[in-house]
Formats: sequence, structure tokens, C-alpha cells
Amino acid sequence: MSIDSGSKHGMWSSRLMFIMAAAGSAVGLGNIWRFPYLAGENGGGVFVLAYLLCIAFIGLPILMAEILLGRAGRQSPIGAMVVLADRSGVSRRWSVIGWMGALAGFMILSFYGVIAGWAMAYVPSTLSGDFVNISAEAAATSFDSFILNPWQVVGWQSLFMLLTVYIAARGVGRGLETTVRYLMPALFGLLVLLLAYSAFTTDRFVEGLAFLFQPDFARFSTDSLITAMGQAFFTLSLGMGAIMAYGAYMPKGSSIMGTAGTIALLDTTVALMSGMVIFPLVFANGLESSAGPGLMFITLPIAFGQMVGGQIFGTLFFVLVTFAAITSSISLLEPAVAWVVEKTSLGRARSAALVGAIAWAFGLGSAFSFNIGADWTLFNGMTFFDTMDYVSNNILLPLGGILIALFAGWRLGQEELLSQLSEDQRWIPVWRFLIRYLAPVGVLIVFLVTIL
Ligand code: PHE
Repeated sequence: MSIDSGSKHGMWSSRLMFIMAAAGSAVGLGNIWRFPYLAGENGGGVFVLAYLLCIAFIGLPILMAEILLGRAGRQSPIGAMVVLADRSGVSRRWSVIGWMGALAGFMILSFYGVIAGWAMAYVPSTLSGDFVNISAEAAATSFDSFILNPWQVVGWQSLFMLLTVYIAARGVGRGLETTVRYLMPALFGLLVLLLAYSAFTTDRFVEGLAFLFQPDFARFSTDSLITAMGQAFFTLSLGMGAIMAYGAYMPKGSSIMGTAGTIALLDTTVALMSGMVIFPLVFANGLESSAGPGLMFITLPIAFGQMVGGQIFGTLFFVLVTFAAITSSISLLEPAVAWVVEKTSLGRARSAALVGAIAWAFGLGSAFSFNIGADWTLFNGMTFFDTMDYVSNNILLPLGGILIALFAGWRLGQEELLSQLSEDQRWIPVWRFLIRYLAPVGVLIVFLVTIL
């Protein structure tokens, strides 16, 4: 066996920094924007239950597999898959996992950058008091006129992408690690503060909790199951190589199970806490929990606008969302950036600029989906934005997840596997069962149900 000399892209300085970076990738718009509105649309508690089951039995084993494959391959996901296929004596075609992942990364960043841009734009507008005592209609009109203006949407999306590229360009240590080192603790602090605000200033905290945690089985449908599974992949950053790329920079010698468990726990905690912040505010102000994607941009500003201290706490809320989005977007870019660094002589900064420019251009399609491009529908009448969201979450990520599970479970050389899991001996049988059978079959069934 070759001696592990780490990754040429750099390494996280400790296991804790890897956890922060991976949790930074996982915790994002998926937790604060998407999870609460999906829970709201899909009947609260039942959806949350389905989501938790998907995280535990499908997400967690695949999360372990991605960390393991990344740490064994020590390269970009595409490069790592080639190396691991060679070392395991199987077809190099498995590197399709890396290629599909890079494509999924561009597609996700396309809509991600737009929503993150909106969240950034809401920081100055909330701070300057735009939403104080705003009526429901005025909040909706203000959001609609904002997204109808292509310059505004593209401007904020571009600013967000510039920040992402700047961090990526500075490299693993000075860019990514420095960013998560400061933003992740800030994010947790803000979330705790907002939770206290929601708990102590509304008298609907218990109602919010009941909505999230009491399953109403009458409201369950197969659709909620599919949505819950897609969300489990999205929220844990699985199926596209982000975690594999980060795993390549993880020091050897620490338990993968413990690390993956910590990351999944942090991510789930943030999603549930976001729900606990948002729903009491929504209920206390007599608003609708099922507002869909507008929950964060229309419903919440109305709630903050009616509350004591809402101007300042509302601003902090959008700062929180922005931080969470940045620590995720850098991980969406990393697989492709690392690959360009490996394959060209461009170097880190220029590779990041190149990949970022492509992602930004993809993002224009999503930015225009709300204004000048509202009628450029692709299939099923979906806009470019909706298509990117749908195809990446409901097709590419689960498909990538199945392939990753199959490769790690059935194809990866045993010596390789055992050396990566040497700190996790007693978990190997459980993990192997989940990754060989339960995870791929589970995802496949949900897939088939979607199609039928
Ligand atoms: N997990 C991130 C979120 O919840 C999104 C993401 C998906 C990031 C896939 C990287 C890879 O917002």
C-alpha cells in the first residue's frame, strides 16, 4: 500500500476543521430556506419523520462512503474515482460519479446563487426598516418587484458568486478553512439567539414545536416521501462529490463513523432549529405555514415587521442565511476547481475564476427565470430555475448516491476499505449492510415510485 501523503490541494489542519467545513457545506439554504417551507407544504411532523429516517438510514451511510472515498483517493472526485477504480481493479467508467457530480454542482449553484443573492439583498433592506409594520400585500409586492428586476437579481447573484470564487481562489487552507473557522461559530451563535427570540417573544412556540414534531399521518403521501429523500441528499450535500472533495483533505487517523455522525447531527439540528425559529413567528403573526419558497422572503419579513426588535433580529436572520449559503457554495465549486487544478497548469486562483465564471453563467438562466426569462420553459412548463432545482435534487443527487453506495459497497478494494475504517471496526458490518442493500434499494424504490 502506498503511504498516504495527503492531498496536493492542501489539508484541513485538524479533524475538527474537517467537521466544520463539512458541516458548513451541509448547513445552508437547504436547512434554513428549503427545509421549513417543505415541512410547511408537506404537513409538518410526518414530513419531518420521513426526513429523519432518510437521513439516518440512507444519508448517513452514504455520507460515510463519500468521506471514505475522498480520503482514500486524495484528489478531486473525478480523479479520485479513476485512482480508486484502478487500485480496485474495476472499470474507470466509475468516474462518471465525478462527472455527474460536477454537473450537479453547476446546476445547484445556478439556483443556489440566486436565492443566496436574495438573502444578501434582504440584509440592507431589513436593516433600513423596509419591513417595519409592512402589510401582507405590501411584502408580497415588494418581493415581486424585486425579483422582476433582472438587474437587481443578477447583481446580487454576481456579488455572491464573486465572494464564493474569491474564497475558493485562496485555496483550502487560507480560503475554505479560514472562512468556516469564523462563519460556522457565528452561524450557531446567531441561530441560538434567534431561537431565544422566537421562544421568548412569541406565545406560539409550543404550537410551532407541535407542527414540526407531531406527525399527522393523514397528511402523508408518497410525494412527501420523495421530497423527504431528495431533501436528505441535498441537505447533507450528498451525491455530487462535495463531501468527497472535502474528504480528500481530511487527516487520516480519525473515525469516519464518528465524524459523519457529528456532521449529520449538526445539520439536522440546524434544520430543526430553523423550523423552531420560523414557525412560531409565522403562527404568532397569523400567517400561513404553507407559503412555499416565499416563506422566507415574504412571510418572515411580515412577521419580523410586526415584532418588537424585529428590525434588528430580522437583519441578523438574513446575515445568518448569507453565512450559511457561503460555506455551502464554496463546497459546490470545490470538486470542479480541484479537477481543473489537477488537469491544467492554471493554478488555484485561475481555476477558481474559470469554474466560477461557468457557474455564474449557468446562474444567469436561473436569475432570469423570475423576470425576462419567465416564459423560457424547458420541460413540463418548468422555468430554467425550477428545472435546475428539480433535475439536480430529484435525479442527479439520488442517482449519484446510488452509484456511490454501489461502488463503496461492492467494488472498492477490501484492503482500501479496511484501512479507511480501521478506527470503526465494530461499525463495519452495519455500515456494509446499509451501503450494499438498504441505501441503494431504498433510493431506487423511491425513484421508481417517482416515475410511476
Ligand atoms: N447542503 C447544502 C444546503 O443544505 C446544499 C449543497 C448541496 C451543498 C450539495 C453542496 C452540495 O444548503
